[in-house]
Amino acid sequence: MPANGKIVLITGVTRGLGRAMAEEFIRLGHTVLGCGRSPDEISGLKEKFGSPHDFEGVDVAVDEQVAAWAKRILQSHCAPDLLLNNAGLINRNARLWEIGAREFSDVVDVNLKGVVNVIRHFMPEMLKRGSGVIVNFSSGWGRSTAAEVAPYCATKWAIEGLTLALAQELPPGMAAVPLNPGIINTDMLRSCFGGSASSYPTPQEWAKIAVPFLLKLGPSDNGKPLTVPVRGAND
Ligand SMILES: NC(=O)c1ccc[n+]([C@@H]2O[C@H](COP(=O)([O-])OP(=O)(O)OC[C@H]3O[C@@H](n4cnc5c(N)ncnc54)[C@H](OP(=O)(O)O)[C@@H]3O)[C@@H](O)[C@H]2O)c1
Repeated sequence: MPANGKIVLITGVTRGLGRAMAEEFIRLGHTVLGCGRSPDEISGLKEKFGSPHDFEGVDVAVDEQVAAWAKRILQSHCAPDLLLNNAGLINRNARLWEIGAREFSDVVDVNLKGVVNVIRHFMPEMLKRGSGVIVNFSSGWGRSTAAEVAPYCATKWAIEGLTLALAQELPPGMAAVPLNPGIINTDMLRSCFGGSASSYPTPQEWAKIAVPFLLKLGPSDNGKPLTVPVRGAND
């Protein structure tokens, strides 16, 4: 581990941006503590990356699962230096009135309540140490809107507000930022953009820029809505 090796907690490491960030942070010598729901992917990550890294099957929408995860992790590792609330869901493209109550709740439970569950259980140790950066993954659709993704837009606009309010509660030495990652060719993008998703950067290309960008965040960034500066991902 480099002298300045960080403990990086990432939700949603089984695919997409979370997986690409986990691999890049590890390649650069940092310690990754990750979660996701898919058991096969979590087993694969455990096999590929042993201690000090740690991967567990956790559904961030279930507060009790997040509480148990935090309790176990914080017995063996320091509080995270970087807490990346990346796990997310998008509704299938449909007009708001066509989306069932269950699907709407799932999007809110993961994108909004899941973020708060993770903050609730990891923040006390971060506060004790008095340092750390919380990055809540927002979206271009947390600052603009589009038809057929209203539930997703609602949660990402909420993440922007929630994170800026949280930033006002933090002591000096800590930071919370909402982050628009840009537009990247993942399962989520393919769900809403279809075939045109392939004209955007891959998660691996994105992570080469995003990870150094995230590693530079500190207290002076507190409360700033940020965007990852990846060419071709912000058009
Ligand atoms: N790709 C883009 O262009 C784009 C643009 C703007 C914002 N974003 C945001 O960036 C983040 C990552 O998106 P992505 O494109 O990488 O999405 P993705 O490819 O669909 O991956 C989503 C990840 O979240 C995990 N996840 C979903 N529900 C979960 C839950 N309840 N508990 C734990 N993990 C859960 C998934 O794993 P399991 O299914 O194994 O749980 C998966 O690892 C999201 O917050 C998204 O809104 C992405």
